[in-house]
This record gives sequence, structure tokens and C-alpha cells, in this order.
Amino acid sequence: MKIKSAEFVMSNSNVTKAPKDRIPEYAFIGRSNVGKSSLINMLMGRKDLAKTSGKPGKTQLINHFKINDNWFLVDLPGYGYAKISKKKRTIFQYFIENYFKERQQLVCTFVLIDSRHDPQKIDLEFMQFLGENQIPFCIVFTKADKLGSSKLNKQIISYKKKLLTSWETLPTSFITSSSTGLGKDEFLEFIATVNDDVADNFN
Ligand code: GTP
Ligand code: MG
Repeated sequence: MKIKSAEFVMSNSNVTKAPKDRIPEYAFIGRSNVGKSSLINMLMGRKDLAKTSGKPGKTQLINHFKINDNWFLVDLPGYGYAKISKKKRTIFQYFIENYFKERQQLVCTFVLIDSRHDPQKIDLEFMQFLGENQIPFCIVFTKADKLGSSKLNKQIISYKKKLLTSWETLPTSFITSSSTGLGKDEFLEFIATVNDDVADNFN
């Protein structure tokens, strides 16, 4: 898929105020600093469309971007950032959970996992939450450039093995690097295919 346009639409903390357009939507979620905003920029071929930072906790709201005038991409705040206050964390959790439960246009969620890390409870629990709410998701391994290829393969195989202890089938997964562009074409082709598949539901 060719990206002809990518525009920021709005930021908000309340899913009821999100854009009303009936077009397919894809959300990016994962731990703080895993590379959600960077991946969005890489996919869109834009440096600063989504705001990124070396410090965790950069994205704090639900951010809608409209792509090619016919689908949305959503950058979400990360979970699992230890330094935010408990009160703020509860508010975060509440609006993120609400987003996932209420957003009818959402057709697929990308759960980002840092390729270097072994499976973490918070990510596995989040996938469980998506499963319980019948929200389709894919796994996206990020920062692949930070590992050599044999270590990378090993990490991914062991991650999948862990998933198979609680899931019957594995979700679609992607291996990406926002630094090198690894995974870009495959990722965009996947979205194009889903857009075609769901087109009838959006007429
Ligand atoms: P929050 O908004 O805080 O939840 O973080 P985020 O998940 O949006 O992460 P962000 O895209 O802001 O990236 C965090 C840091 O990781 C930044 O310093 C990025 O430059 C770096 N980073 C992201 N993706 C990659 C990657 O693929 N390779 C490398 N080497 N660094 C990356
Ligand atoms: Mg971010």
C-alpha cells in the first residue's frame, strides 16, 4: 500500500470524543518506550507525525491519524511506566480500557513487544484482556536492529512458545525496526488486506 496522505486529526482522553468517521481503525499499544510512536512514523514515512522520546511516558492521550483519507491509525499511551503516580495510572488504565471496549471502528490492535525482552506479565495480561473482549490483535516485535539475527530469532521463537502455553493459535506477528525500516512493506500490506476484508462492514 502506498501512503498518499497521513494527517493528525485530534488527541483526546475520552473515546466518546474520538472522530466519528465510519472507517477502519488500527491501534498501537504496548509498554511505554517500546516504540509505538516511532513505528507509526516509520510506516508513514514521516519523521515527526507522532511525537517520540527517549524517555518513557511521552504519548499521554489517544491520538488519531487519518491515512489515505480512508482509515485511522491510533497512537496510544504506553502502559507499565513505573514513574507515573498511582492516580494517573488508574486514569490511564480507565481511558485505555474504555477505548478498547467502546471503539466500534477498531478492526485490529497491534501489541508491540521489545524484541530484546523476555515475555512480561503486563503484556501477556493485556493480550488476555483483548482476547476476553474479542478484540483482534497482532504482535509486533520492535527494535529488531538492536539484536543480531540469531539472538533475534531465538527471542521470537521463545516468545511464541510462551504464548502457546495460554493460546491455542498464535496471532499474526511482525518483526520491525523503526531505525532500518524492517517490516514496513509487510505491515502495510497486512493493513491493506484487512481494509479490503472489512470494507463491506463500513458501507
Ligand atoms: P510512549 O509514548 O512513552 O509510550 O513510548 P513509545 O512506545 O511511543 O516509544 P517511542 O516511539 O517514543 O520510542 C522510544 C525510544 O525508543 C526513542 O528513543 C526511539 O528513538 C527508540 N526507538 C523506537 N523504535 C526503535 C527502533 O526500532 N530501533 C531503535 N534502535 N530505537 C527505537
Ligand atoms: Mg509514544
